[in-house]
Amino acid sequence: MSAEAIIEVDNVSTVLGGHVIHRHLNLTVYRGEVMALIGGSGSGKTTLLRLLLGLEVPTAGSVKIFGHPLGRCAARDLECVRYRWGVLFQNGALFSALNVFDNVALPLRELKSVPDDLVKPLVMLKLAQVGLKPEDALKRPAELSGGMVKRVSLARALILDPQLLFLDEPTAGLDPDSAKQFVKLLRRLRQELELTVVMVTHDVDTLFAVVDRVAVLADQHIIACGPLADVARLPHSFVRNFFLGHLERCAEEDLRRFRLSLDDTSEDGGVPAVLREAEEIHH
Ligand SMILES: Nc1ncnc2c1ncn2[C@@H]1O[C@H](COP(=O)(O)OP(=O)(O)OP(=O)(O)O)[C@@H](O)[C@H]1O
Ligand SMILES: [Mg+2]
Repeated sequence: MSAEAIIEVDNVSTVLGGHVIHRHLNLTVYRGEVMALIGGSGSGKTTLLRLLLGLEVPTAGSVKIFGHPLGRCAARDLECVRYRWGVLFQNGALFSALNVFDNVALPLRELKSVPDDLVKPLVMLKLAQVGLKPEDALKRPAELSGGMVKRVSLARALILDPQLLFLDEPTAGLDPDSAKQFVKLLRRLRQELELTVVMVTHDVDTLFAVVDRVAVLADQHIIACGPLADVARLPHSFVRNFFLGHLERCAEEDLRRFRLSLDDTSEDGGVPAVLREAEEIHH
């Protein structure tokens, strides 16, 4: 892993509606890593993501993304930074009145600099890349399964080819099989697209499958941040309960075997090689 910091949260405090959500919170995310953010319900995980997206402003401290301080950089600078990240919101946040194609095309059309005749091939490639069929493009969100909603949201998050991907509970609400397929897809895309990922999750299997480091948000700040095996042994009540019954899986060898087993089974609904090549040509 290179030591280039992509996200730097420095001594942040956040007060919302008179409540202190974060106090002296520090977090650094490096290029190319998958960082999980775990913490109890109401501990401030989504609020932290909103700070990282510039949707919320910290009461004190600073947030830098790609070296740009959010909140202090010029509007134009912020726009440039924004196009370098994609977000998958907790519930998918698709527009119900738009079909799959238009939902995924939205960020491209907002950019205005992408010619109309390029929008269609780009969207169709992205849909294929997340394992959706061409005919899914015309479906409305209400006609999709939970797993498909996540895939469409992921396609939309990736449509501008971001370097940084934010995921809020990407596998929540999926049945175990769909969750596993989704995690396999993430593993593959992360490698293919060289993404840096920040993921809020309470799903232990997702952590074991894909994460490099885990940050624990408790008592209003990041109480620990490090490899799974180290964090899982932390003597803190939230951490102890979170990893209850899973500690033995943290051993390096077990983790490696589990991850290999995910890569083994071929079908993750992924993109056929021919489409992958087409995308490479496009870039
Ligand atoms: N705009 C707001 N005004 C006041 N309080 C807020 C606001 N947004 C969030 N909060 C409060 O901040 C706390 C943290 O909320 P947040 O959504 O960040 O938690 P979370 O860790 O994501 O929880 P969950 O796991 O349930 O999604 C909660 O107590 C919430 O009520
Ligand atoms: Mg949340």
